[in-house]
Amino acid sequence: DTEDDLKPRPPVVTVMGHVDHGKTSTLDAIRHTGVAAGEAGGITQHIGASVVNIDGRQITFIDTPGHEAFTAMRARGAQVTDVIVLVVAADDGVMPQTIEAINHAKAANVPIVVAVNKIDKPGATPDRVRQELVEYGVIPEEWGGTNMFVDVSAKQRIGIDDLLETILLQADVLELKANPDALASGFVIEANLDKGRGPVATVLVQRGTLKPGDAVVAGTSYGRVRALVDPRGNHATEARPSDPVEILGLSSVPTAGDEFRVFEDERDARKLAEERALRERLKAQEAKTH
Ligand code: GTP
Ligand code: NA
Ligand code: MG
Repeated sequence: DTEDDLKPRPPVVTVMGHVDHGKTSTLDAIRHTGVAAGEAGGITQHIGASVVNIDGRQITFIDTPGHEAFTAMRARGAQVTDVIVLVVAADDGVMPQTIEAINHAKAANVPIVVAVNKIDKPGATPDRVRQELVEYGVIPEEWGGTNMFVDVSAKQRIGIDDLLETILLQADVLELKANPDALASGFVIEANLDKGRGPVATVLVQRGTLKPGDAVVAGTSYGRVRALVDPRGNHATEARPSDPVEILGLSSVPTAGDEFRVFEDERDARKLAEERALRERLKAQEAKTH
């Protein structure tokens, strides 16, 4: 892409942090939804993508689980994002998955905005959270560091507008751009086999514009996009850079983390997917005989 092809794109923001520190609740407060209350066991078990509009500006949010079993999902969440919002409960402080999230952010070279949550609680000590994070190299701007901190209560909706403003401020610094006119490409953030709809892949478009009818490859899976479904469950006519969208019409269920790419010619898409599938089978055979 030349500089002229690049157009501003919305930020992709991944919410990370220790289990039950209030990641989903913070997103609920932002979106005016009630997802956290409906989760089995109160635990997030998958990556959820959503889109909000703040004064005409889009932010794409990716929720991640805090349960220690879901390290791979957190690593993927860090790899596809522009900004990480690290949620730390002010009554609990820095915990193992807080540290893990910081390490993912550093590995992916992604800036961290800290949301110090649950400040409504009697035992909340937001300044102690700041002190603890300094030990891990996450240092508040007001203390001479580079990380923006916002005190919030997801439950009482305190500091939520401030958090959104801070996220947009951090995004502005990054001057995010992509070419919307190229053949679409990006990453699979999650995928599953739906009883009625067949293979469904939630992808994040990073470049180009994805449309129904496009010939697409995702890992060893391929097909023509039968339909696109936006995060609200509505059919979409296109998905642009930074948009999360469900793809229907793939031949099989791709793997989360797979790259997806649109091809001009469906035969090329099929050929690439079949070559990859063959290579995978050979590798599996080789592993068995050695
Ligand atoms: P996992 O996705 O399972 O890691 O959890 P999470 O970080 O998404 O936390 P979740 O939003 O599920 O909230 C965990 C618990 O903390 C729930 O009982 C929430 O009601 C509660 N909670 C979240 N935010 C606040 C807050 O600001 N204040 C208080 N008092 N409770 C909160
Ligand atoms: Na939870
Ligand atoms: Mg959650």
